[in-house]
Amino acid sequence: MTATATFVRHAPENADSRIVEWVEAIAEMTQPDRIIWCDGSAEERQRMLDESVAAGTLIKLNPAKRPNSYLARSNPSDVARVEARTFICSEDEDDAGPTNNWAPPAEMRETLDALFQGAMRGRTMYVVPFSMGPVGSPLARLGVQVTDSPYVVISTGIMTRMGADALAQIGPHTEWVPAVHSVGAPLLPGEDDVVWPCNETKYIVHYPESREIWSYGSAYGGNAILAKKGFALRIASKVGEEEGWLAAHMLLLKVTNPRGRAFHVAAGFPSACGKTNFAMLRPSIPGWKVETIGDDIAWMAQGPDGRLRAINPEAGFFGVAPGTGYSTNPTAIEMIADDTVFTNVALTDDGDVWWEGLTKEVPAHLTDWQGRDWTPDSESPAAHPNSRFTVAAHQCHSIADTWDDPAGVPIDAIIFGGRRATNVPLVAQARDWEHGVYMGATLASERTAAAEGTLGELRRDPFAMLPFSGVHMADHWQHWLNVGEKLNQSGNAPQIFQVNWFRRGCDGRFLWPGFSENSRVLAWITERIEERVDAVESPFGLVPVEGSIDYAEAGVSEKDWEALFEIDPAALSAEADDTDVFLTRMGPKLPDAVVRQHDEFRSRL
Ligand code: GTP
Ligand code: MN
Ligand code: MN
Repeated sequence: MTATATFVRHAPENADSRIVEWVEAIAEMTQPDRIIWCDGSAEERQRMLDESVAAGTLIKLNPAKRPNSYLARSNPSDVARVEARTFICSEDEDDAGPTNNWAPPAEMRETLDALFQGAMRGRTMYVVPFSMGPVGSPLARLGVQVTDSPYVVISTGIMTRMGADALAQIGPHTEWVPAVHSVGAPLLPGEDDVVWPCNETKYIVHYPESREIWSYGSAYGGNAILAKKGFALRIASKVGEEEGWLAAHMLLLKVTNPRGRAFHVAAGFPSACGKTNFAMLRPSIPGWKVETIGDDIAWMAQGPDGRLRAINPEAGFFGVAPGTGYSTNPTAIEMIADDTVFTNVALTDDGDVWWEGLTKEVPAHLTDWQGRDWTPDSESPAAHPNSRFTVAAHQCHSIADTWDDPAGVPIDAIIFGGRRATNVPLVAQARDWEHGVYMGATLASERTAAAEGTLGELRRDPFAMLPFSGVHMADHWQHWLNVGEKLNQSGNAPQIFQVNWFRRGCDGRFLWPGFSENSRVLAWITERIEERVDAVESPFGLVPVEGSIDYAEAGVSEKDWEALFEIDPAALSAEADDTDVFLTRMGPKLPDAVVRQHDEFRSRL
C-alpha cells in the first residue's frame, strides 16, 4: 500500500483480489489520503450528503418545499460533456472510425500516467462497485469506479445499483469494467478546498479492448459518472459487437392499448431531442396507457424465446431541467418533488429550485446557477441550459412494474427521431429491418441557435450515437444489420419507425403540438404492428393513410397535417447529396446494405 493512504474503510473480505490489486495500484499512482470502499447503504449515502453540505459542494434545499433534496453548483467551466476531449483509444485507429477522436493507446497512457500521478493528494479515493442492469440479470454487466469526487459517488449511487450487492457479483472469472476518475485537483497540506474542484485540462478516455475508462479534470455527470455514457454506451457498444447484442442511446417504454394489449418500444433521439419526455408521456387519447422503463440507454439482446429483449441498465434519471414543467412533463415534475439532486439550476428565495420552463410565472428574484442575484431583467438564464436533475427510477410514478425484470422486456418497435424543421415527415415506417438501419444511419438533427454552427445546418447523429459509439460507426451499422438478420430468421425482428416532432411551418411555428399528443403517433405505430391500419408508400417509407391518425383532435388543421408529410423533391435531393458525403466518410467499412438503401431512397424521389 502507499505510504500516505490510510484506510477509512477497507476492502470487504469478499472483494475479488483482482479488484483489490487494481485499487492498490491506482492508489499508488494517485496518492489519496484516504480510501473508502462504498457499500451503497442508506447511512453511507446520508453521511456523504451531510459531508458535501458541510464542504459547500451541495446546498440543502428547504425541506418544507423539497424534502431530502440538494443543489450543486459546478464550476462555470464544467457544465457539459466535452466531446473534443473524449477519446476512443483502440489499438487500431480504424476501429475508432472517422467520427471519434483517437490517439495511440501507448501515447495516451503516457499522457494520463503523468496527469494521474499524485492527482488525488489530500483527497479521499472512493471505490464504487456497481451493476448496470438488475443484479444477477443475464443482460447485466459489472464495473468498479474509483473517484475522488463525493458528488460523483452520490450521483452513481442514484444512477446505478451501487455497493455491496454489485461487488458480491464479481468472482474470480467475472468480467468487470475498471473506471478511474479524478477531478485533477490535488490539495497541498492545509490547503482549503473549493466547492467544485476540477481542472482546465480534461480527458475522457476509453480503451475498448481492455474495457478501461479513464476520466480526468471534470466532475460533470456525463464526463464523470463513468457507468453511464462511458460504460453503458461506449464500452458496451464494443462488448455488444463482440457478444452479439446492442447498446443503444434509447429510451424504453411500455404502451397498452384500450383492448389491454401491451407493446414495448425503444426510441433513439439525439441529446435534447425528447427521450425523457417521450418515456414519461401522458397520452392525450383516452384508454391508452404509457409506462416508463428507461429514459436514456437500452441494452438489447435476442432472448431464449427468440425475441429482442431489452433492459434499462441504469437505476435513475439524469434529466435536462430547463423546459421540464407541468405542461410538458408532469410525470417528471412529480418525480422530482423530493429526494433529488439538482445541478446548476436556480435557487428561489425560500430555498427551492427554479428553471426556465418550470412555471409560466417567473419569480421576481432568484439566485442564478452561478450564485449571483437574478431578476427577470437579467441577461442570462437563471438556470444553465444543460442543468440537470438526478433522481432514482423508483420515484417515477409511471415506472412499469417490469422495468427491472432481469429477463428484459420484448421489443415490438424501434423508433428513430431527430429535430428536423424540414423534409422529414411526422412518422414513417421502415419497409424492413435493412431500411430501418438506413433510417438510423442517416439520422440527423438541425443545430439550434444555442449550438455552434449555422442555424438549420444538419448535424449527422447516426443512431443518436455520434458522441457515444466506442466502435467505428460503420461497424456499428453492420452489427445492427447482423443482429436483424438473426432476428429475421425466426420472424422476431421488431418493426422500425422514424418520427419528427419538430417540423415547422413557413411561419416558423411547430406544425405538431408534440408532448402528450405524440401518443397519437405511438398508437398508430402499435396499430401498424397489429396490421389494423393501412399505410401508403413515400420516399421515407410507409406513412399514415387519411383518417388513421385523428389530427383534428390534436388541434392540427388539415393544411398543417399535409405540411407535416410534404415532400419537396429538390430539398430531398440536396439532402441525399449531403448523405452521400456523409456515407463516403465511412470508407471501405460502409455496409453494402446502406448503399443499396440510399440508392433506393434516391430512386423513390
Ligand atoms: P438527453 O437526456 O440529453 O439524452 O436528452 P433527451 O433526449 O432526454 O431530451 P429531453 O427529453 O430532455 O428533451 C429536451 C427538449 O426537447 C426540451 O426542450 C423539450 O421541451 C423538447 N421536447 C421534447 N418533446 C417534445 C415535443 O414533442 N415537441 C417539441 N416541440 N419539443 C419537445
Ligand atoms: Mn442521453
Ligand atoms: Mn434525457
